[in-house]
Amino acid sequence: MSDAPLVLGIETSCDETGIGIVRGSTLLADAVASSIEEHARFGGVVPEVASRAHLQAMVPTIERACADAGVGLSDVDALAVTSGPGLTGALLVGVAAAKALAIALGKPLYGVNHLAAHVAVDVLEHGPLPEPTIALLVSGGHSSLLLVADVSDDVRSLGATLDDAAGEAFDKVARLLGLPFPGGPHIDRQARSGDPRAIGFPRGLTGQRDDERHRYDFSFSGLKTAVARWVEAREASGEAVPVTDVAASFQEAVVDVLTRKAVLACREHGVGHLLIGGGVAANSRLRSLAAQRCADAAIELRVPRPGLCTDNGAMVAALGAQLLARGRPPSALDLPADSSMPVTLVRA
Ligand code: KG4
Ligand code: ZN
Repeated sequence: MSDAPLVLGIETSCDETGIGIVRGSTLLADAVASSIEEHARFGGVVPEVASRAHLQAMVPTIERACADAGVGLSDVDALAVTSGPGLTGALLVGVAAAKALAIALGKPLYGVNHLAAHVAVDVLEHGPLPEPTIALLVSGGHSSLLLVADVSDDVRSLGATLDDAAGEAFDKVARLLGLPFPGGPHIDRQARSGDPRAIGFPRGLTGQRDDERHRYDFSFSGLKTAVARWVEAREASGEAVPVTDVAASFQEAVVDVLTRKAVLACREHGVGHLLIGGGVAANSRLRSLAAQRCADAAIELRVPRPGLCTDNGAMVAALGAQLLARGRPPSALDLPADSSMPVTLVRA
């Protein structure tokens, strides 16, 4: 493995400036600078603020990653960068930095798909990816169910959210319960002392008719509205809002639908592996319910550790290294930042 190529990956699709360095499938450095605190008072990520933070963090984060890995930029054999999907201004900072490095170092550059990178990162922790695999990606920006036949070349979308992303729903519900942003970890904590069966919140897109058209799609905005109405009614009655029960019941509705559809996708496609990634994969109830339902269905579950589930540069480097190892040609040096890059396009 020591002579495998050294790949530096750059991630700037949202609010994390991530620089990862891998050698083959060995992680050497994973430096992340987050601007999340700058967005907290707005209750969500502000694109212009994120772009400026990426600009400021880029060079120091590259230097930190190189120091952590004990390598210099001249040791790098190839570069990889998130080309999309994501916030255009934020993506542009990473893509411009990656092009500058590729030209200065005379090394190949891979513009990669952020969603495929969330899948590819798992090789750093759990070894070669079983293919095909079903991937459930759930974060503040995306909720997707993918069929991954070849992470370097063949990724298909089975379904996605029609409205809010799963993490976005956690953040919005947290806000109406008076919990800080980002709300996912706070809901998770509150839910531990609540009753998940206290309130029967709706399971979006699981009805008979939805089942046919939106078999693998998600919808969380109706759930969010149902929680808001329930809380409003409780407040109007003058009774205290039982925050822990609302958090637990809401969380149960989200993770029930996510795991139900992911397991269904595995079964209907004859796939024995499920990978869960994205920030919401840190949710303790999602992890335990997925483990239970996968065990019942004889599906092997892989969930990277939380630090690799949230946005980072190591995932981009990991996908770049796999593209290189499988002989895929690098991207052209005029590769775009593509905010709506389709999931089927692994490489720009
Ligand atoms: O992947 P990520 O760091 O950034 C992107 O959105 O791309 O995901 C952040 C999202 C936020 O919505 C946050 O509330 C959610 O992941 N999250 C969680 C938990 N930890 C983070 N949601 C539920 N439970 C958690 N423990
Ligand atoms: Zn992401």
